[in-house]
Amino acid sequence: MGNKGISVTGLVWGFAFFLLPLHSAYGDVSYSFPEEMKRGSVIGNIAKDLGLEARILSARKARIDTEGNQKRYCDINLTTGDLIVAERIDREGLCGKKASCVLNQELVLENPLELQRISLHVQDINDNYPQFKKDVIKIEIAELSVKGARFLLDEARDADIGQNTVQSYTLEGNNHFILNVNTKSGGRKNADLVLDKELDREQQQEFKLLLTSVDGGSPQRSGTVLIHVTVLDANDNAPLSIF
Ligand SMILES: *[C@@H]1O[C@H](CO)[C@@H](O)[C@H](O)[C@H]1NC(C)=O
Repeated sequence: MGNKGISVTGLVWGFAFFLLPLHSAYGDVSYSFPEEMKRGSVIGNIAKDLGLEARILSARKARIDTEGNQKRYCDINLTTGDLIVAERIDREGLCGKKASCVLNQELVLENPLELQRISLHVQDINDNYPQFKKDVIKIEIAELSVKGARFLLDEARDADIGQNTVQSYTLEGNNHFILNVNTKSGGRKNADLVLDKELDREQQQEFKLLLTSVDGGSPQRSGTVLIHVTVLDANDNAPLSIF
């Protein structure tokens, strides 16, 4: 009987120790929301999500702390239990081209001391435009270039990720050239200018083409660059006799 009593107590303690870390792991909360929300915007109600009564938050000195040396990006409203944005959250600045952007914060409660981890998953919004490095791309093309000749164009860059980055290119202003769009590993896209109809310098010595890059965001954003093509002389006309 005595032996049985000890083993039951041991079992209860073992179970309690086993449950403690498990409980805090289950208590983790995560929120997913767009970058650049205004300070004071409500991310969610953390009291409700943790099954806490909002009225105990003040008594238990609820506050948001950071993990490691991260900034404090959110705050808690002690009256409502709302988690609110406390700091500008710029996804590009924090995570660059990373596909996933997570900020770790903690909710601290006292009496008894309790920590709850909060993961903030920051979603990209389409707040950047595709941009070319230069304003003008200058290309010189020999008059005798054959149909299908290709000329590599500078790639447009967009600081956003996924659909919000460069999706395609279009070309305006001529009937001699078309575009060939390439998708590189990692999904980046660039374009080649392709000669579609042969050139005649005596007819036209230069072309001004407008290259536009568009992203796939909503609203869609675009960037443009002027392509200045100069046709180089092939000396294909026999000199006229002046006599
Ligand atoms: C907390 O929320 C209440 C109700 O929305 C609001 O009146 C109060 O100003 C908020 N407190 C803080 C510190 O933001």
